[in-house]
Amino acid sequence: MTTSDLNEDGEPTRRDFIHIFAGVTAAIGAGSIVWPLVSQMNPDASVLALSTKDVDLSAISVGQAIKIMWQGKPVFIRRRTEAEIREGEDTPLAALKDAVARNDNMSDKTDATDDARVTASDGVARPEWLILVGVCTHLGCIPLGTTAGENRGDYNGWFCPCHGSHYDIAGRIRKGPAPENLLVPPYQFVSDTLVKIG
Ligand code: FES
Repeated sequence: MTTSDLNEDGEPTRRDFIHIFAGVTAAIGAGSIVWPLVSQMNPDASVLALSTKDVDLSAISVGQAIKIMWQGKPVFIRRRTEAEIREGEDTPLAALKDAVARNDNMSDKTDATDDARVTASDGVARPEWLILVGVCTHLGCIPLGTTAGENRGDYNGWFCPCHGSHYDIAGRIRKGPAPENLLVPPYQFVSDTLVKIG
């Protein structure tokens, strides 16, 4: 503001008042547009509930596997037998095509040991429970092996018939064109028999 914008009492002229008023009005207008956008971007409780899924494990017997849907994707949950756990643990890393754990609950530098494939978000490995996103890492087919009697492939885990990928009993790729192990999703055990996926 220059001295020519002041009236004889040294106060802002009417023209300045209009400018100041317009500026304040514009700021309020911008604020009122931003607020609904911000409030729409905050997910409400129903959206958060959809992003996680509680699964009751109590009805799954040893050796059995189930498939559930989470965020539009199949998730395999297998309750492994003692022999299956041993088979997974006895597999050397050198035998794996993909030596990275691919476990969303762990650092992406973790080795794909059997333990690392069954570790939940609390850092505890529960070898009996193997939880995987059931999407082949080649081109996205759903591998077989969850339902009893289905082809489990050459490594007793899952088999993707689309182009012949074989996954082992820890969901690790062992043969075929798939480049990576089946992904372990984020999950936490709420109790011994209740797991929250997501
Ligand atoms: S999509 Fe599974 S092997 Fe190609």
